[in-house]
Amino acid sequence: MKIMVTGGLGFIGQALAKRLETAGHDVILIDSLTPQIHGTLPTLKAPDGVAVTRLDVRDIARHVDLVDGCDAVYHLAAETGTAQSMYRVQEYVAVNELGTAALIEAIAASKTRPKRVILASSRSVYGEGAYTTPARPDILVQPDPRTPDQLARNNWEPQTAAGETLRAVATPEDLPFSPGSIYAATKASQELLLRAAGPALGFKPVIFRFQNVYGEGQSLQNPYTGIISIFFNRARQGMTIPIYEDGLESRDFIHIQDIVDGLLAALEADLPNGATMNLGAGEATTVLGLVEELLKAGSFDVPVKVTGQYRVGDIRHCFADITRASSLIGFKPKITLSEGLARFCMWAGAQPVHEDRLEQASAELRARKLMGD
Ligand SMILES: NC(=O)c1ccc[n+]([C@@H]2O[C@H](COP(=O)([O-])OP(=O)(O)OC[C@H]3O[C@@H](n4cnc5c(N)ncnc54)[C@H](O)[C@@H]3O)[C@@H](O)[C@H]2O)c1
Repeated sequence: MKIMVTGGLGFIGQALAKRLETAGHDVILIDSLTPQIHGTLPTLKAPDGVAVTRLDVRDIARHVDLVDGCDAVYHLAAETGTAQSMYRVQEYVAVNELGTAALIEAIAASKTRPKRVILASSRSVYGEGAYTTPARPDILVQPDPRTPDQLARNNWEPQTAAGETLRAVATPEDLPFSPGSIYAATKASQELLLRAAGPALGFKPVIFRFQNVYGEGQSLQNPYTGIISIFFNRARQGMTIPIYEDGLESRDFIHIQDIVDGLLAALEADLPNGATMNLGAGEATTVLGLVEELLKAGSFDVPVKVTGQYRVGDIRHCFADITRASSLIGFKPKITLSEGLARFCMWAGAQPVHEDRLEQASAELRARKLMGD
């Protein structure tokens, strides 16, 4: 097949392109090489045999020839920092939403249109995701985002209106959108745009909602997202690892190899129109637990400090119900967290050391009252 990957020089795009190329597909990558991810003097480091065009996805409707004749498009190009999206609102909306709109226009204008458009969406569209109350463990509830007041009181867990603490459970795909950040809202919008356009333009949208993806190849210089990279970069420089809230907030960490397996399976599987699937490990790991594992995997001995700081818009917990991906595409994560972190540390340890810019990213949030101490 002829396959386009937008954002193809990013973390997930590169890993996907390698596997597509190895599987014998004709792969075209487009990427604008944003300085935040690639540095100010980026190099085009595409896998062998893969064609790359440096292009902003928002301009793709002026390059219809790139889309014409593609059998499938993976749409990965995006701005991806949740906290940063809260103050660089126009940029996030422009890249993520208008970028998707431009892709749809390019598909509409092409003579031979792709049959499938596979979107990298995010678990962030659920906001806090699914919880249950102590009294009704059989009914899923979806709490509102935690308020700045609640966070300022260090009252970390989502609660019912009556003040009962809720328990996080695996989040299924039919939970409604409840975006708690501009980034999340733009991912929900990308989903809606592709679902709306697909039937009229003759392509099937396939929506993947990723949990926290990590592994070899992720950006080591972006201070706005990717806690595993940020913590690794600090640990290798002997710096303290600062942990927000009380460290018991949790995330679902999924290794890049498992994500690419899922993305590949979606290419040819017989899927319903607009199929929407979570991709995650299906397990919650606390941030403290993650740090312990990471320090072990990298043999680091640095101080860990639970700071009680918080970011407005962060969720407390979310992990994926992967039943649907398992039944539709046979998705089954294979890489355990300890194995994945060992692979990541091995790779990352051979990369250049980057200046830690976490303080700078935090100062930007504090200046806008989006971070509390
Ligand atoms: N990594 C995760 O944990 C995760 C989780 C959920 C969803 N996602 C989604 O997966 C996709 C890929 O994420 P990633 O982790 O590989 O991120 P990444 O930042 O490594 O890659 C994104 C790529 O998009 C490119 N890009 C940004 N703006 C662009 C534009 N205007 N035009 C063309 N290219 C542009 C960047 O240069 C970068 O190479 C994104 O859509 C992201 O929202 C990622």
